[in-house]
Amino acid sequence: MLRRTFVGIVSAAAVTAALGGTALAQEALKIGLILPMTGPFASTGRQIEAAVKLYMQQNGDTVAGKKIQLIVKDDTGVADVTKRLAQELIVNDKIAVMAGFGLTPLALAPAPLATQAKVPEVVMAAATSTITEASPFIVRTSFTLPQATVPMAEWASKEGLKKVVTLVSDYGPGIDAEKAFTGAFTSKGGTVENLRVPLANPDFSPFLQKVADAKPDALFVFVPSGVGAQFMKQFVERGLDKAGIKLIGPGDVTDDDILNGMGDVALGAITTQHYSASHDSPENKAFVEAFKKANGGMRPNFMAVGGYDGMHLIYEGLKKTNGAGGQALIDAMKGLSWTSPRGPVSIDPQTRDIVQNIYVRKVERKDGELYNVEFATIPNVKDPVKAAKAN
Ligand code: DHB
Repeated sequence: MLRRTFVGIVSAAAVTAALGGTALAQEALKIGLILPMTGPFASTGRQIEAAVKLYMQQNGDTVAGKKIQLIVKDDTGVADVTKRLAQELIVNDKIAVMAGFGLTPLALAPAPLATQAKVPEVVMAAATSTITEASPFIVRTSFTLPQATVPMAEWASKEGLKKVVTLVSDYGPGIDAEKAFTGAFTSKGGTVENLRVPLANPDFSPFLQKVADAKPDALFVFVPSGVGAQFMKQFVERGLDKAGIKLIGPGDVTDDDILNGMGDVALGAITTQHYSASHDSPENKAFVEAFKKANGGMRPNFMAVGGYDGMHLIYEGLKKTNGAGGQALIDAMKGLSWTSPRGPVSIDPQTRDIVQNIYVRKVERKDGELYNVEFATIPNVKDPVKAAKAN
């Protein structure tokens, strides 16, 4: 009698568990996409959201037999909001993955939650080197500023430039760019003067006056995506375009989204970066064409490719785990490689950063539009800051 009751309880529990399991299998896999959709960095949110949606449109919304549900949230570019949204998505929506993260402080804010909840955090935009060290659940499909910048210093030195002034936004990625450039350029005998401009509502003119007075061979600039237009306007207003000072830097300042609106002042700027809308490959031609078609002619920039590849990484990871998330998913992402619109890429299994080509580009007019035209390639570049730590 006792035994029968016990068996009865066990089997009832087993049935409940099995039913629960079936219900879970049919439940959607949710991806929380947290981006600045409003505020000063809304262009980053707009580019990434468009690219993520394009990827889903092209590759379907079922992976490993499960429906993918995208939940887009606007953090307005404020880190406390990013963190609150991540918490709500984890606790209430039970997301399998969080993704997006338009700036460094926005990527760092939810890192402890990723660790605690074992939810992979796919960083599609932010680019300070240390970000992936903030949680073992962070993986990145954008880039790091040192990765893009060291090749710039090497190019500048080879071109015979001797004196450079750096002007960077005063926060994580700007400081990374300043350090990477200064270290690599001075080690080759160059001299550098460093200037930093506030991230919020920057007024470049007092800094540009200092640049004009210093008369360097080149001005090295880092500003986050979207801010380049404002920088260029003040560059012209101060007459620096006519002062014979070369404009160089990582590619954020001549971002493909805004480059065409800058006009001839941008012509000749030399930048190093992982993505150009004019990258000559069949994958990129197809990407640019589809992206423009789906978005009223908007040109994809490097943020868009970070979002597109981030979705590819999530889809391929989920295929490998047969739909499982957590530790299995982050492990499955390590070492994945594919051909991106930007060229060949892979996820470094040690650092969870993306390994990719860095291209040296010059702003030129092509078919009536301004583009960053690639003219040299440095293949398979790792984040040099972490590579140096590993040695
Ligand atoms: C970051 C933001 C950007 O818009 C960019 O172009 C590079 C880096 C950042 O905050 O990490």
